[in-house]
Amino acid sequence: MPEYDLLITNALIVDGSGAPPVPGSLATRGDRIAAVGQVSGDATRVIDAEGRAVAPGFIDVHAHDDAAVVRDPAMDFKIMQGVTTDVVGNCGAGVAPAASDDFRAFFPRGWGAILGDSDLPWRSTAEYFNAVDAARPACNVAAYVPHGVLRYHAMGLDRAVPSDQQLQRMSDLLEEGMAAGAIGMSTGLIYPPGVFARTEEIIELARIAARYGGIYTSHIRNEAAGLMEAVEEAITIGERAGCPVQISHHKSAGAPGGTVASLRRIADARAAGIDVTVDVYPYTASSSSLAAMYRVGREVAFERTPSIIASVRHNKQKYEGRYISDIAREMGISIGEAIERILEEEENTPSVVMFTMHEDDVRRVVADPHAMIGSDGLPTDGKPHPRLYGTFPRVFQRYVREEPVITLEDAVRKMTSLPAEKHRIAERGLLRPGWYADAVVFDPATIADIATYDDPRRYPAGIEHVIVNGELAVEHARQTPARPGRMLRRSV
Ligand code: CU
Ligand code: ZN
Repeated sequence: MPEYDLLITNALIVDGSGAPPVPGSLATRGDRIAAVGQVSGDATRVIDAEGRAVAPGFIDVHAHDDAAVVRDPAMDFKIMQGVTTDVVGNCGAGVAPAASDDFRAFFPRGWGAILGDSDLPWRSTAEYFNAVDAARPACNVAAYVPHGVLRYHAMGLDRAVPSDQQLQRMSDLLEEGMAAGAIGMSTGLIYPPGVFARTEEIIELARIAARYGGIYTSHIRNEAAGLMEAVEEAITIGERAGCPVQISHHKSAGAPGGTVASLRRIADARAAGIDVTVDVYPYTASSSSLAAMYRVGREVAFERTPSIIASVRHNKQKYEGRYISDIAREMGISIGEAIERILEEEENTPSVVMFTMHEDDVRRVVADPHAMIGSDGLPTDGKPHPRLYGTFPRVFQRYVREEPVITLEDAVRKMTSLPAEKHRIAERGLLRPGWYADAVVFDPATIADIATYDDPRRYPAGIEHVIVNGELAVEHARQTPARPGRMLRRSV
């Protein structure tokens, strides 16, 4: 019998640690890496990777594929960009626990714009994790317990401070999720019901996440004029709860240059011993629920910011892919009236793309040594933000190759070991013998995002092979029928 199952030879090894690339080979046996570097020995399958890089599989720390990994387990939009582990349950939104009919009724209007559809056939977080395993997704999945789900179960859309009993209910559900293997708790402090939570409530719950070795991640309360106060709140929660913090999709949606001060504040917090890191997607447009963004920014935000309707439930031809300003002009009404009409007709479910950011801020965050990459891709139908298909290739294309702010090995580290360590994903994120065989073979000279706002469903260029748990999920730039992913439960 050959010594190895798979041997990738002649490659440039970018091992995930941030160390400079070195020529070498990668060998796997079963679901594990067997050897890295100068490898001799025979293999069942040999792939000559001349001129290509081999890196650990990319970890998407900010995904909204909670429903998608069960609904659409092929996960082509992620696996084709080299993502081998997808972290779901972000922004306080999610699909589990789904312990009531009330929640099932709320879900499409509340989070359909972000997560797409789901039948929610599970009750507990543990049952959801089992459903993910049963669906056999192409990539691995790790999950947060979403605070918005906890709060909805405890008190619906009530704006009040929770009673002791309600807080106990949230705590119990969080404990169930953490015990099932969740990696922490997320909040979405612009979305109902998360938006109604005060800092104290979140501190109480983050303490529980910390007790289980989890982390706290947040779509913070304000990413525009109130950015600094919102960053401060996240730091306070981490400090008071004794819980590591991740600030999601870090950006300045207000004044250009807003991330100078926010990154400085985060660096100060780290220097003071609070573990705060961020993630970022490499685009100047954001994307979210139209209803939520309208609630936050009212009409003025949309008058200032060019915005495109990405996905709607009913009138696809009429709205999808079109600027809201054009729709309003055609209807002969104001932008605010047009948004209200669209929300009404589409039952609150549209998602929107908004050109809110400045390139300098995006570059600054990408370059920060404590920033990792997260797509924030929204797996809806229609014309989703192209980040769903192109985030990881785009970082290499733009920020390593065309307008360099980071090296090839930095970029890989931001997608592999940095997120694995922070998110408690064991034995992944580095090319190390004995660790899981998740890997990507790509061409550093051609890797590129070719999805656009107008035509977002395009697979990137330059990704050649993707290996998940030792199996080829992408081979010669085509997805294989293999779906080797697993639910990754935090090891206690
Ligand atoms: Cu998000
Ligand atoms: Zn978010």
